[in-house]
Amino acid sequence: MSIQPEHTIRILGIESSCDETAAAVVENGTKILSNVVATQIDLHAQYGGVFPELASREHIKAIYPVVEQALKKAHLDLSGIDAIAVTRGPGLPGSLVVGINMAKGLALASGIPLVGVNHMEGHLYSPWLETSEETTPPNFPFIALIVSGGHTEIVLVRDHMDYERLGSTQDDAAGEAFDKVARLLNLGYPGGPAIQKISADANKNAFRFPRSWMPGTHDFSFSGIKTSVLHLVTDLQNRAKKVWINTYGVQNIKNFDPKTVKLPVADIAASFQESVVDVLVTKTIKAAEEYGCKEILIAGGVSANKALRETMTERFSGKVHVPPIYLCTDNAAMIATAGYHRFLNGQTDSLDFDALPTWSIASLQK
Ligand code: KG4
Ligand code: ZN
Repeated sequence: MSIQPEHTIRILGIESSCDETAAAVVENGTKILSNVVATQIDLHAQYGGVFPELASREHIKAIYPVVEQALKKAHLDLSGIDAIAVTRGPGLPGSLVVGINMAKGLALASGIPLVGVNHMEGHLYSPWLETSEETTPPNFPFIALIVSGGHTEIVLVRDHMDYERLGSTQDDAAGEAFDKVARLLNLGYPGGPAIQKISADANKNAFRFPRSWMPGTHDFSFSGIKTSVLHLVTDLQNRAKKVWINTYGVQNIKNFDPKTVKLPVADIAASFQESVVDVLVTKTIKAAEEYGCKEILIAGGVSANKALRETMTERFSGKVHVPPIYLCTDNAAMIATAGYHRFLNGQTDSLDFDALPTWSIASLQK
């Protein structure tokens, strides 16, 4: 069941929780009138991950033009906007405040209501966007697997804004594991798309990495898989070192550079991806079966992963929902949609609200 407004409601969404500065205008929680994303990926790639100080400075430069462009592309000015939804958390504190201050400034100048949105709830609402007769949003109750660079959560979604978080990661998030393993294999940042690409024609059964099942819980742990990849790489480098010593003699060991060892990078990446996907899919389906849910939603940056999408669809007997790729990674359209449901539910926030960098979806209430 979805809530029906009496008239058209347009929400301006603003997102700046990590390394994407984004703004979007969404009509009635589904129709995207504009969706502008300024990514900082190239900037952070040289550091192998997000550099928080640089991220907030880039947000400061990008936020005004991005918002202006979103309104322009929607052929609207602020008088056509009913509410401003902005990511309040979780995320990098210095990045969150840039979007929040922009939203507050606009709200103060125009008198438009302000709605602080949880970023994970935004990911969860992404399948409500651009729906059609073929691509309908999930039916309640369903199980959501939210997998991003900072979070890995299994959530029972009973109704709009009615959640129970069943499990989460005890250490690394799935996306974080992709990023760390990609760095180890010199594949660049962000790691997820790089690992997916190089895995395409590789042997996913070449190596068997451990799966942490965390029995009796819906929780995850990915640090063991990551460490196991590190051990394999070190082991392969040590073997190459022995061959070098046998060939050139121990007196020449100073000329041996472990970084020049040719590793079976594609097979390692594919086997790593296989182990992460196996755990994510098996545990999500188990939760769906336990709670009698016939539908599963995968959302967040890692939901762009082809192997994850395909394996979940193959193994689950019910319906699997995945947002289109451009809505999997961070964007403001999803924030506008979540904000729309909060706004219809009567939620608005005052101009003195603060960022919540560690805001858990488990604490959200209707
Ligand atoms: O949701 P998101 O854009 O930002 C956060 O809220 O964290 O997720 C970013 C994460 C990164 O860790 C990135 O490596 C991962 O999503 N990612 C992927 C893929 N595309 C992005 N992981 C696996 N396969 C992909 N195709
Ligand atoms: Zn995200």
